[in-house]
Amino acid sequence: MSATKLSVKHLLGIKQLTPDDIQLILHTADQFKEVINRPIKKVPSLRDITIANLFFENSTRTRVSFELAERRLSADTVNFSAAQSSVKKGETLIDTVNNILAMKVDMVVMRHPNPGACVFLSRHIDASIINAGDGAHEHPTQALLDAYSIRERLGDVKGKKIAIIGDILHSRVALSNIFCLQKLGAEVMVCGPRTLMPRYISSLGVKVEFDLRKALEWCDVANMLRIQLERQDIKYFPSLREYTMQYGLDMPTLRSLGKEIIVMHPGPINRGVEITSEVADSGQAIILDQVENGVAVRMAVLYLLAGRMQD
Ligand code: CP
Repeated sequence: MSATKLSVKHLLGIKQLTPDDIQLILHTADQFKEVINRPIKKVPSLRDITIANLFFENSTRTRVSFELAERRLSADTVNFSAAQSSVKKGETLIDTVNNILAMKVDMVVMRHPNPGACVFLSRHIDASIINAGDGAHEHPTQALLDAYSIRERLGDVKGKKIAIIGDILHSRVALSNIFCLQKLGAEVMVCGPRTLMPRYISSLGVKVEFDLRKALEWCDVANMLRIQLERQDIKYFPSLREYTMQYGLDMPTLRSLGKEIIVMHPGPINRGVEITSEVADSGQAIILDQVENGVAVRMAVLYLLAGRMQD
């Protein structure tokens, strides 16, 4: 790793990051992971920095993880949720954000249902923007914490075979993971029903597989995605039961592979749909490691972007 600074001022997506940027974030996260396992988990790195967490869409893990990361770095924070805001009275995104920035905010963490909302915002305001998920577009910090967790468990991401399985069409996690894992030298496969596979997917240089068993036999890591019913305006498969029969991961299938693969899930899990509880709670699943690593990775992102603010 040669970079000491990020090449970007905002974290809008993994697409804009260089492999060196990603390595720098993962390396910095190693140091913050050590910090958050100390008895005193707080460092003064972002004292005097104010961060607004703007959530226009529901979140548990990402919101709590960012808030915790900001507190661990001693930043001042303000939390905004669209459900209790003047957005409900018709205020535009730019007006909402400009009003918050008028209160002297330095960084904005934003989740928004519309793809490109963070890119749009970055063209209109001076604060540093972090995309916490924009529609079915990107979820960069999820991909970074996923890569960190694979590296932690397998020693490296380079050369590893990662299968992303499930609702690829509606998933921002899939797109950010594909960009991130490829930039780190992994081989990536996507697997799911034909109706949930975007037409452009092979142009991203991934393997495409429609048979779950074949994907599992190929991979070192299976990243099981949730069926995003909230983004599905039509029926993409006959029933959840049928989906589970074809693409659900259970313990007998895992055991029958004759090798130990790692199981990941970005959450929230639909237990009994994409994976059974037995798989989710097994030693092969690193789902809670992903959540724990999310705090260290987000601390690294905030710290490195704050470093760019002085440029
Ligand atoms: N993984 C993830 O983004 O979860 P939340 O929607 O709960 O933030």
